[in-house]
Amino acid sequence: ESENKFNSIIKTAVDGIITIDTHGLMEMVNPAAQKLFGYNESELLGRNINMLMPEPDSSQHDGYMERYHHTGVPHIIGIGREVSGLRKDGSVFPFFLSISEVQLADRKVYTGFVHDITRQKVSEERLRRYA
Ligand code: HEM
Repeated sequence: ESENKFNSIIKTAVDGIITIDTHGLMEMVNPAAQKLFGYNESELLGRNINMLMPEPDSSQHDGYMERYHHTGVPHIIGIGREVSGLRKDGSVFPFFLSISEVQLADRKVYTGFVHDITRQKVSEERLRRYA
């Protein structure tokens, strides 16, 4: 019952939700995230999260995660940050990324919440220009 409820919430969420393992490999990508990045599920599962971001982050993301595993000092987990996403068609879009660390019985996973801020960015830019 509760598992079905959680699945329905994730499936119908407006924001993208992506789960990765400690190597950065995608384990769950909800429909909103598939749509935002322009891929279907089978193109993403088991692949590295770094395929969804432009350079230089793409080459460095494994290192970011390794740094965190060694130091325990988070830079995004529990804080959030504005970052850039890379779609399948090569276009780049801004989103607010929040990450939570989930300790399961035998291992750890990370859940990323992808909140598209393209529209906020456009209005911010307009305000700046006409201020
Ligand atoms: C760390 C970028 C997606 C998990 C980082 C850092 C950056 C970054 C810049 C390091 C920050 C620093 O050291 O100052 C991005 C970009 C993404 C993205 C551009 C666009 C797709 C994700 C997603 C997840 C994730 C979806 C989880 C599902 C992590 C983890 C760390 C990290 C676990 C290390 C912990 C931390 O620094 O808080 N990422 N990330 N990232 N990212 Fe990502």
